[in-house]
Amino acid sequence: PIARLTIDPHFTIGRVQRRLFGGFVEHLGRHVYDGIHEPGHESADADGFRADVVELVKELGVSTIRYPGGNFVSGFRWEDSVGPREQRPRRLDLAWHSTETNEVGLHEFSDWLEKVGSDLMLAVNLGTRGTLEALDLLEYANIAGGTALSEQRIANGRTDAFGVKMWCLGNEMDGPWQLGHRSADDYGKLASRTAKAMRQLDPSVELVVCGSSSAHMPTFGEWERVVLTHTYDDVDYISCHAYYEEKDGDLGSFLASAVDMDGFIDTVVATADHVKAVLGSDKTVNISFDEWNVWYLSRFQDVDKVEGLDNWPVAPRLLEDVYSVADAVVFGNLLISLIRHADRVTSASLAQLVNVIAPIMTEPGGPAWRQTTFFPFSITSRLAQGDALELKLDAPTYETAQYGEVSLVDAVATHDPEAGRSAVFLVNRSQDEAVTLTVDVASLGDVSVLESHTLADDDVYAKNTLEDRERVAPRANDSVRIEGGELTITLPPVSWTALSLG
Ligand code: AHR
Repeated sequence: PIARLTIDPHFTIGRVQRRLFGGFVEHLGRHVYDGIHEPGHESADADGFRADVVELVKELGVSTIRYPGGNFVSGFRWEDSVGPREQRPRRLDLAWHSTETNEVGLHEFSDWLEKVGSDLMLAVNLGTRGTLEALDLLEYANIAGGTALSEQRIANGRTDAFGVKMWCLGNEMDGPWQLGHRSADDYGKLASRTAKAMRQLDPSVELVVCGSSSAHMPTFGEWERVVLTHTYDDVDYISCHAYYEEKDGDLGSFLASAVDMDGFIDTVVATADHVKAVLGSDKTVNISFDEWNVWYLSRFQDVDKVEGLDNWPVAPRLLEDVYSVADAVVFGNLLISLIRHADRVTSASLAQLVNVIAPIMTEPGGPAWRQTTFFPFSITSRLAQGDALELKLDAPTYETAQYGEVSLVDAVATHDPEAGRSAVFLVNRSQDEAVTLTVDVASLGDVSVLESHTLADDDVYAKNTLEDRERVAPRANDSVRIEGGELTITLPPVSWTALSLG
């Protein structure tokens, strides 16, 4: 098959915000303990954090990191996680049926963020707690000193305020699995009250209200409308969460997952703008896509769960999905979808970062390595600079069971006028045929290919594992040529590609 793409730097969608390349660290499984924090590991620093993991997180290029949950936050008492370590209580974590030791808390995590060079995005507990506890945490984190809680922070060793800008008003409050889950009406009222109170304390905070926990929830759409009707003036973002997996061997539909993400974003944008119109507001609420990934959730429902009244393990192996080439191609395509919506998706968090549905895996006392999904993230985060561009794409289509007829190729491009650099991100969803793509790059001027990376493999289910940690990696695409303002490239079947032009 052949496909054709036209890039014009004048057709901008919106600035690609650095926050689009955020991550998410939840106290879940071996994410924090035995993941980022393993005092006994040979690479551990004086604070017990693994230096090999720090290096990989830096290489991944994550901007803001959402913390500490996730479902975990809906039972979390933040006070447990600060102060002298030996006095911190061990608590039941009902969300993941584990024991939370509180060995790593707000201060330690913030120290780790400094090591990896990322910003903190905090979630408050609106499941089992409410406005007062959210205010307390905000005072502890953002007030310089002179009040009970800010002085407590100083006494706990942190003189400067944490200065946290981004705050989530709870997590997935529509989900029946969520501790303290509520109706849209009840949550909307609580979120509005809490947001107003938080802004009274610190008007500079940016607030994210919970959207539906997926586009497939029975209340999807109506939840957004009701919640935003209560909170429109109080918040900056509404959240979207989406996870994809190959089901029943239907690789064709799985490869088209970004079609679903596109529709999800468009629907939430339309709903937010509907509320804006009804309220006559001149403010725009954007999307924080603060959980997205490939996750074999159906597998988790069957095998991973911990149960039993006397069984609350510390850091059990949970959600340790091992990703294939096909997973990484879908993952790269989800990033394409996020960038394509850069005008309205202005913050996003890959869920999650280490060991738990993660691009980085570790073995206790052993190595840390990159999963297949690591590569599309690190390369896109590094190359997608400047404005997202609207493209003209002509490509063959194929039929899917889940999404009907979809394009065989997907693409997005970015352009940074200051740096004189452009980047193109491409996916070939064909399972058996290479696509020859011609790209009209004449309006970019006299450019050449600075970098090319293609992720593909004869075995689309090849993975990086503890035993074979470098089995899968992207390679330079030797087929790429530019001549007379026209770029040609061959995209192998089931592949993700990134090009840097300048
Ligand atoms: O990322 C794993 C879980 O998925 C999160 O805790 C929750 O918010 C979502 O359901």
